[in-house]
Amino acid sequence: MTRVKLLIGAAAFAVALGGIVAQVTAEIPREDAMKEMGKNMKAIKEIVTAGGPAADVAPHAQKIAEIAAKIPDLFPQGSDTADDEAKAEIWQHWDDFTAKAKALQDEATMLASAAGGGDIATVGAQFEKVGGTCGACHKEYREKSN
Ligand code: HEC
Repeated sequence: MTRVKLLIGAAAFAVALGGIVAQVTAEIPREDAMKEMGKNMKAIKEIVTAGGPAADVAPHAQKIAEIAAKIPDLFPQGSDTADDEAKAEIWQHWDDFTAKAKALQDEATMLASAAGGGDIATVGAQFEKVGGTCGACHKEYREKSN
């Protein structure tokens, strides 16, 4: 009998632990993803400031577009926690939030093609637009807006 109880206890513990792990990992991927976008933005800025080569911007822009496409999945319903910077408005204005993610994806894709074109001035102008879409979403949906 004791053994059975222990087993049940162990199973319940495993389930509880699974729940905690799921909660913790639910928000880390998006913060990592955002940081990754930040790194790529910084790399692009350095290339633009140095005056090129424009083509070097392409892989960074593609990476940002790739991450942007995953933004909706990174913010599952109910993943808001007290200590993150995601505002509850995200889930109240979900269509607008995903539209802002799509805007970033589109502008970053355009940046990748601009990079292919080779003109650093065009790349610089498009880079500003990409940065604008980061800010537009943060302003509405991130606690610490920038
Ligand atoms: C569709 C909305 C949206 C877009 C677009 C967006 N972000 Fe974010 N970003 C957020 C939200 C919401 C948070 C807060 C997430 C959290 O704390 O759980 C955040 C957090 C961050 C963070 C902090 C991560 C951390 O460690 O807490 C960085 C850095 C960041 N974003 C960079 C960027 C950059 C760079 C871009 C553009 C290339 C961008 N974001 C585009 C919504 C967005």
